[in-house]
Amino acid sequence: MRILFVFALSFVLQTCSGRDCEMVFRCHDNDLNNRINLQIGTELTGHYTYQKLAQMFERHSQYLPKVAKYFRQKSMEELAHAERFIQYQNQRGGTVEMSLVTIYEEGSCKTAMDVKEAFRCAMELEAHVTRKLTELHQAASNIQFTGESNCEDLLALEDDDLRLTQPILITIKHDSGERVTSNYTDCNCESGEPNCFVAGYAYVELAEMIVHEFLDHQLEDTKEIANYYNTLKNMNSEGNAKLASWLFDQHLEL
Ligand SMILES: [Fe+2]
Repeated sequence: MRILFVFALSFVLQTCSGRDCEMVFRCHDNDLNNRINLQIGTELTGHYTYQKLAQMFERHSQYLPKVAKYFRQKSMEELAHAERFIQYQNQRGGTVEMSLVTIYEEGSCKTAMDVKEAFRCAMELEAHVTRKLTELHQAASNIQFTGESNCEDLLALEDDDLRLTQPILITIKHDSGERVTSNYTDCNCESGEPNCFVAGYAYVELAEMIVHEFLDHQLEDTKEIANYYNTLKNMNSEGNAKLASWLFDQHLEL
């Protein structure tokens, strides 16, 4: 029992030593790095999926030029979102890793063959992107190290490392309470802080960016697409689906 206690105490002291503050920071930052790269992949999936929808309505067999142009514009918006996260990753000193881009093939997106189903697919795609952004926002607000990162392979911090300039808030908990610091080296246990540990990192700027540059737009865009989907659904219920699609295209405002 006594040996166990000494081992636990030495682990706590080790975790809270100055050198390990850096390791803890790098592990948390690596978690965030992975999450941002996943979001870049999600935005590129949106870009690629809208490209697929756009080309469907450029084909001669179901030519709807305004619908095609609408989906192409959406595709370029998603590309711009991916580029914004790539820019952010580089601005904060992170490492961009490009993944293979896939089409979103859940729900209606798996089977969409006409304009009504294409707009339903777009709604579901936007909902998917919103969920991923919301999860990233939650993580940015409180990154908790899960132990999944390989901390050994991470690059050491240098004095001029951009990662050190990020606006972050670090919560350190201990048996008597908690404190918050903005200094990544400040995870040392102080006197009166028994069993302290780093409980989480908040990336203030990223959380703000997600809300103001992304989630606001998601609500507007999803509402617009839902309007179009329901218009098409109502028009189709009157009878001639092809005539309804043609009229919809004629009146679509770009
Ligand atoms: Fe997006």
